[in-house]
Amino acid sequence: MSQKLEMKIAPSILAADFSKLGEEVRLVERSGVQQIHVDVMDGHFVPNISMGPLVVKAIRPEVQIPLDVHLMISRPQDYFEPFIKAGANHITFHIESDCNVDQCISTLRGQNMGVGLAISPDTPVSEVLEWLPKVDMILVMTVYPGFGGQALIPSTLEKIPEIRNYEKKFQQESDGGFRIQVQVDGGIDSTTIRLAADAGADCFVAGSAIFNSPDPADEIRTLFNLIRETSE
Ligand code: DX5
Ligand code: ZN
Repeated sequence: MSQKLEMKIAPSILAADFSKLGEEVRLVERSGVQQIHVDVMDGHFVPNISMGPLVVKAIRPEVQIPLDVHLMISRPQDYFEPFIKAGANHITFHIESDCNVDQCISTLRGQNMGVGLAISPDTPVSEVLEWLPKVDMILVMTVYPGFGGQALIPSTLEKIPEIRNYEKKFQQESDGGFRIQVQVDGGIDSTTIRLAADAGADCFVAGSAIFNSPDPADEIRTLFNLIRETSE
């Protein structure tokens, strides 16, 4: 890798205790994570319903770190505004959703949002390559979207080196200035995080591993140690 990556951990509040969400997000922020991951599901794009802008609004004043909103919904463009108003800093939508990708990227850029493009396990990397130079992040789903607590699908990690190869190509064309974040989401824990890091990921979403741990702060330390070793 030509530049050293900053390894980021993004706890997914899908696995948090909703009766004390404020406390949960403050705890993970104190433990040094760089962002909070908010999983939004509409019962249509995925067979589950989770949370909406109200939850983003409720946790926004509780932490300083960015809120990374992952939209697993059929028409993401209809919900950008409510999530932006609620305090989202970064919005990721799926390439498989019913939207005009170019327009979505421009809308989010126009609102100074970080932009991520997500691919589900059955979608090949070739589908997102043309947008690589226009987004900040590619989210490689390492499970089928819809539920927390699933086991990581190892073959999904093969997409990451493909993305990094294209990144290199764009870097050469732009005198090295181009960098993209590769986020992995689903089944990330102390037994899988190194596999993802070795494959080239630099942002790791973890829900159950962190929030179902008896000691979330200790779990975060463990995860950071594992990925920082890899990036040395
Ligand atoms: C799955 C979500 C993930 C999920 C991660 O649809 O996008 O963010 O909550 O949860 P764990 O870490 O439990 O697999
Ligand atoms: Zn997610």
